[in-house]
Amino acid sequence: MGRKHAAHIRPNIKHRRCHRTYTRRAPTYATAFNGWHVTLGEQYAADISPPPGGRCLDLACGTGLVTFPLAKAVGQDGLVVGVDVTPAMLDVARKREREEGWGRVEFVEGDIADLSEVEPVQDVVRESGFDVISCCSALVLLADPAAAIKHWADMLKKGGKLITDVPTETHTLQYLFSWELRRAMGLQNEFDRSWVENIHSLEKLCADAGLIVNKSWKTASQGGEGEEYRLEDGEEVFEQNVKKYSDFMDLEKLDETRQKFLEMWRRECQRSDGVFKDGHWLYMTIAKKP
Ligand SMILES: C[S@@+](CC[C@H](N)C(=O)[O-])C[C@H]1O[C@@H](n2cnc3c(N)ncnc32)[C@H](O)[C@@H]1O
Repeated sequence: MGRKHAAHIRPNIKHRRCHRTYTRRAPTYATAFNGWHVTLGEQYAADISPPPGGRCLDLACGTGLVTFPLAKAVGQDGLVVGVDVTPAMLDVARKREREEGWGRVEFVEGDIADLSEVEPVQDVVRESGFDVISCCSALVLLADPAAAIKHWADMLKKGGKLITDVPTETHTLQYLFSWELRRAMGLQNEFDRSWVENIHSLEKLCADAGLIVNKSWKTASQGGEGEEYRLEDGEEVFEQNVKKYSDFMDLEKLDETRQKFLEMWRRECQRSDGVFKDGHWLYMTIAKKP
């Protein structure tokens, strides 16, 4: 299908920051970090198992790594609408859709926090509501995830399901470099996972939105188990990761950043008996509209 819909947003500061990050990441998004986003996307569709012919809404669809597996599951009689705020991510998704021909898949530019004027979404809401709504690797990017889930719950049909995830509260290298260190340096953060205290945090948002939690679990570490480090590895860990996470750093203040990191590293190693275990674990929740 691949109709190109008009943009439904007037980009704000947060959107513009998001555009910068994901415009740069778009061409290599699928292959980055050993391709774990591709595996996770396929797993999403397998876990939620939409009905053949069903209607799905893939929120923050990016390059379509969840959208396409959902489209495969619903088949030619189904429909999947993908919404994302970054045109460059949607361009990659639309190119794949054109090249591979995926039945009824529509990619729309929009803000998933407010879909009230996104036509292809509202068409389905008026007609029946969605069988499945997915939001993979994006909930922590939203300013108000609780309000967003309430908004999405309204668009599910009776018995329809939401599947979404958040990173666990575990302090990982990704967490330290992309969040804690930025905070210590007085920089603004693109995402906020501080509300994730345990496996029940996401369940609670779903329940508060009137949904019934069907299933909730902690995944294996995405991309495989990470390495274990010790206190004395701090300098090396910093040097190894400062390039990888350079987008999150103010490289003009490298010495100060290193200093802050080493202070943080000491605290982290102390709170985990001297061993820092890296990885990327998620809490996943499937919740149903009664
Ligand atoms: C980490 S990527 C995940 C992409 C896709 N869900 C996947 O798992 O491959 C996060 C995506 O969220 C999108 N995004 C962030 N905030 C958004 C918002 N308010 N509305 C729509 N999309 C948003 C970004 O543009 C980006 O494509």
